[in-house]
Order: sequence, then C-alpha cells, then structure tokens
Amino acid sequence: MPAVSFQSVTKTYPASRQQRAQGSAGLRALDQVTFDIEEGEFFGLLGPNGAGKTTLISILAGLSRPSSGSVRVHGFDVQADFAQARRKLGVVPQELVFDPFFNVRESLRIQSGYFGIRNNDAWIDELLQSLGLADKAEANMRQLSGGMKRRVLVAQALVHKPPVIVLDEPTAGVDVELRQTLWHFVAKLNKQGSTVLLTTHYLEEAEALCNRIAMLKQGRVIALDRTSELLRAAASNVLRFKTDGALPAALAGQARVTGRIVQLPAHNAHEVEQLLAAVRQAGLAVEDVEMRKADLEDVFIDLMAGEQTPLEVAR
Ligand SMILES: Nc1ncnc2c1ncn2[C@@H]1O[C@H](COP(=O)(O)OP(=O)(O)OP(=O)(O)O)[C@@H](O)[C@H]1O
Ligand SMILES: [Mg+2]
Repeated sequence: MPAVSFQSVTKTYPASRQQRAQGSAGLRALDQVTFDIEEGEFFGLLGPNGAGKTTLISILAGLSRPSSGSVRVHGFDVQADFAQARRKLGVVPQELVFDPFFNVRESLRIQSGYFGIRNNDAWIDELLQSLGLADKAEANMRQLSGGMKRRVLVAQALVHKPPVIVLDEPTAGVDVELRQTLWHFVAKLNKQGSTVLLTTHYLEEAEALCNRIAMLKQGRVIALDRTSELLRAAASNVLRFKTDGALPAALAGQARVTGRIVQLPAHNAHEVEQLLAAVRQAGLAVEDVEMRKADLEDVFIDLMAGEQTPLEVAR
C-alpha cells in the first residue's frame, strides 16, 4: 500500500466577482493530479509559484476539499477517514502560524494533546534538541525570530511521530545552519522509515535529498521520475560564462541568467561551438568561460519553458 495516493485530484477555485465580470468561471489550481508516494520515499514536489503545490498539500491534510478526485494516506481517505489519515501525517505549513500566548514547550504539549498523547516530554525534548531549540523551550512564541518559529512548526508537526512528514517550503528564509540541522534530522527520520514529501524552490536541496520528483506546472504533473532519471534525460552539459552585454534573442530564450552569469545547455561539443560563435557574433565580451554538468535546476527550467497550459476554466 502506498504511503500517499493522489487519484485524479482536481481543484477549481471559484472566480471572484471581478473575475466573473471578466468572463472567468474560476481558476483550475489542480488538474487530474495522479501519483503515489511509496512508504520510505523522500519525494520532491516542485513547481513555480502558483503551480498548485500548497493546494495539493492542503487537500492531503484535509484542510481543503478537492473539486473531484481523492487522496489516501496509508489507505485512509483524507475526507471519509479524516481522523485516521490526519494522525498519519505531520504537516509543516508554508505560512508561519502560531499561538502567541504560549511558550515553545507549552505549544508542543498542547499539540500532543490534540492527538491524545500525554507524557510526551521525552520526545518533545528530543525534538527541541534536534532542531536547535533547547535553549528556547521556555521562550514565548512572540519572542522568537522567523527562523526559530519555523523550527517550532517543524517540531509541532512531529510531536505525534507521524509516519508521513510533509514539508511545504521548510527552508524559505531560513539560514544555512538551520537548513543543515533540519536536513540532518529529516534525513535521519527518513532512514528510520518515515516517508517525506517536500516542496522547495531550492533545487539543489531537492536534487540532494529526493529519490523521486514530481514537477507541477499550472496544476498539472508534467514530469514524474527518479531524480537520477530526470538528470540523465537533460542536456548533459552547461556552458557558463560572465558578460555585461545583452544576449541575442536566440540565446536568451534558453539561458539561465543570474546577474552577470549566463548558463546555456549544450548536449555536445558541436553545440558548445555554436553557442560560442553566436556570442562572438553578437559582439559580447565574455569572461570565466567554463563547462559543468547539468543539474536539477537546468532540468526544471527546460521543462517549465515548454508549452503553456490554460489556467482559466472556460464557461
Ligand atoms: N484560497 C484560494 N482562492 C483562490 N485561489 C487560490 C486560493 N489558494 C490558492 N489559489 C490559487 O491557486 C493557484 C495555486 O496556488 P498554490 O498556493 O497551491 O501554489 P504553490 O505551488 O504552493 O505556489 P508557491 O510556490 O508560491 O507557494 C494560484 O494561482 C493561486 O493564486
Ligand atoms: Mg505554496
């Protein structure tokens, strides 16, 4: 039995009055999403802003209803068997939500109480320790920095030792140290058998951690494969250089540009020559030319650059 099973999940948000006036009947945030996550997987759900990742996770967590389709967690339907499904899940939400009246330890005890767990202090201490929160146990939630609040959200999600851990952009706005602490801890839980579902915009994290990846674009799954397969199918090499000039249009479409750094996919030596010739013809001055292996971000950009799918639901 899969740990998580999404079956034809579709979600349409109703149009606002203004959108209706413009002829839109609503926004299809998810369109027939179907895939399974097996027990023990470290699974990545990737996609640009607005692709539908959080919508899918809200439906998984039973916080939002699908327009059609169904979701099961360890065999329990998230709507029909809400309580059993919810108990199997530990969800770290994308938004920082917390109760300002309690300290860290109290909020973790209260969360344990929701799941009917008493005397959970040994595990709570381990969570605080593993997430670098031990010295903040008695601090009020209001007194914590953003990154620390995020650590508490992770601890809250794990108080009931759920077999499936769902992390919605857990490292957004988080410093290097917490990222490393968090990944060390989550990887340990995964080794011990927990299933992990992760969304992130840090593709190097996904590449390093996830054994399998689904890519969402405008509510549709456009790629679903082992991470190694996704990397293998991509252009094998990337030409990288620095320039101050503007790229010719023919190159700009396929380039990944970060400030002065330009990166272009190249399958073979012939393509490298062609790219360099195009750069020379455009009269660009380039420095620090080098080649590197393609990574997940290259695959992602390549896939997302594909055909647009309509988001608006026709009336
Ligand atoms: N409550 C809502 N009502 C109407 N539209 C919504 C609602 N929540 C999300 N949407 C829309 O659904 C689409 C998917 O949003 P969602 O939050 O699932 O994206 P995401 O992949 O999590 O993006 P991000 O990477 O920015 O977190 C977006 O177009 C968004 O505007
Ligand atoms: Mg989101």
